[in-house]
Parts: sequence; C-alpha cells; structure tokens
Amino acid sequence: MNRSDAIAPSISASGLVHGYGKGAARTPVLHQLSLQFWPGELSLMMGASGSGKSTLLAVLSGLLRPESGSVNLLDTPIWNLTERELERFRFQHCGYVFQNFNLFPALTATEQVALPLHFAGVRETQARQRAEAALDEVGLSGRMGLRPAQLSGGEKQRVAIARALIGSPKVLFADEPTSALDSANSEIVIALLQKIAKTHGATVITVTHDPRLTGHAERIIRLQDGMVIEDSRPNGTDGAALSLAAGTAATGTQHSTGNHP
Ligand SMILES: Nc1ncnc2c1ncn2[C@@H]1O[C@H](COP(=O)(O)OP(=O)(O)OP(=O)(O)O)[C@@H](O)[C@H]1O
Ligand SMILES: [Mg+2]
Repeated sequence: MNRSDAIAPSISASGLVHGYGKGAARTPVLHQLSLQFWPGELSLMMGASGSGKSTLLAVLSGLLRPESGSVNLLDTPIWNLTERELERFRFQHCGYVFQNFNLFPALTATEQVALPLHFAGVRETQARQRAEAALDEVGLSGRMGLRPAQLSGGEKQRVAIARALIGSPKVLFADEPTSALDSANSEIVIALLQKIAKTHGATVITVTHDPRLTGHAERIIRLQDGMVIEDSRPNGTDGAALSLAAGTAATGTQHSTGNHP
C-alpha cells in the first residue's frame, strides 16, 4: 500500500519556485519543487551547502513567501493567508527549532518554555506547570531553574525543543538543530525529535548535514540545486503514519513516497 493511500499528508507543497535577487543578479533556488509530508514521521532534509534546504524549510513553514507555488499545511493554503492570519496559524500549529537555540539570556529554562503560553494568555501557574512538564519530557527536570549560560549546548537545544513543543504543534520545523552540538548531544536531540514525531503524531522536518543522524529518521530527502534528487525510507520503517492507520502493511526499503511518479 502506498503511504498516500493510508493517511492524508499534513503538508502538501506543489510547484514551489523561489530565488533571491532580481534580473541578471537573480539566484534561482527552488525549481518547481513538489513534496508531501505525513504525521508521525521525522524526515531529514540533506544536501550540500547552498542546495536550498533552509529556503525550502522556510517556505514550507510559513516563514518565507515563495515566488510561486502553494503549501497546504494541515489543509490550509498558508500562502493565501494574510500576514496576520499566517502569524496566528504559525503560533497555533507550528513549532520551530534553530541551530543557535534562540534563548533569552536572562530567563530560566522554565521561563523560556512558558513564554509562548504567556503570549497566548495562559495563567502564570498553569503556564509554569505546562513548561515543567515539557522540560520533563525532554529530560531536563533537574535543570528547570537554570539560565542559558549555565546549560550545555545539548541542554540549551532541549530547552528550545521544549519551548517549541509547548503549544502542542502538529508540525515541527528544525533547521540544523544539531550543528552546534557534539555527536553525543546530536544523537540525543535527534532521538528526541523522532520521539516527538511518534508520541505526538507530529510531522517533524529537520535539515541537517550530519550523516550520523540518518539512522533516526523514517525518511531522507536529498536536495541538489533546489531539486529533490533522492527521497527514500532507508530503514524500511513505516513511521507512526502507517501504524496509526489500522491494519496497513509494512513498506519496503527505498519506499517511494509518491513524490516521484
Ligand atoms: N537572503 C538571501 N539573499 C540572497 N541569496 C540568498 C539568501 N538566502 C539564501 N541565498 C542563496 O540561496 C541559495 C540557497 O540557500 P539556502 O540557505 O537555502 O541553502 P542551504 O542548503 O540551507 O545551505 P546551508 O547548508 O549552507 O545552510 C544559496 O546560494 C544562498 O547563497
Ligand atoms: Mg541552511
């Protein structure tokens, strides 16, 4: 059975075109790119520097408007929304994790994670409790009162992941979340992202350069010059998507995702 028959995609992008600059100075980056992603899976997006990974992730996640093409995120054509609607949509449904953690130096781990809840109008006590539960989930229950300067790189990234998780996003986007980490911490972070895909049924898309992380992902997408040159399921895993769809058969290795007819 094809995955696309089993469960609806959470992200469906079609005909994406994007470049930077104008006229003769234009750098084309994405060339008519179409891709789908499903719930419960961690997908790794790989490729050489400059191949368009960050551009694609930004377009898929509502951070960068493409020149043309569409992105349906949870059945919403996000690039048809107004700026205000898009901002609200992102806040409600999307989580973001970046290479440099983006933490506030003055705030404790609990305060960093609770911050989005304060913006959403959640009361102090409840925000704190939820932040502590999220920090517990990423294995930081002993570190809640510490500020970024007192945390290791791996711990900082786990705080950032807890913060991204706090609104229970259905889609989580991570651009090079492990590139500032040593290999042991990279493993911890990628395993955590995969666990989030499974336990929350979230769609997790992670850009990475690190080939050591591929063992943790259900799906590997390789970009070259803004085009998908490989889209595979190297471990032959089903991901949560198929197991969620009761009684579906296992897929084989190098499973086609339906993106390459
Ligand atoms: N804001 C920008 N203005 C002009 N050109 C840009 C801009 N952002 C990216 N580019 C160019 O677009 C191309 C793709 O960039 P992108 O950041 O998507 O690549 P990447 O695959 O994420 O690379 P890396 O692995 O180095 O992060 C590159 O040639 C880059 O120089
Ligand atoms: Mg990049």
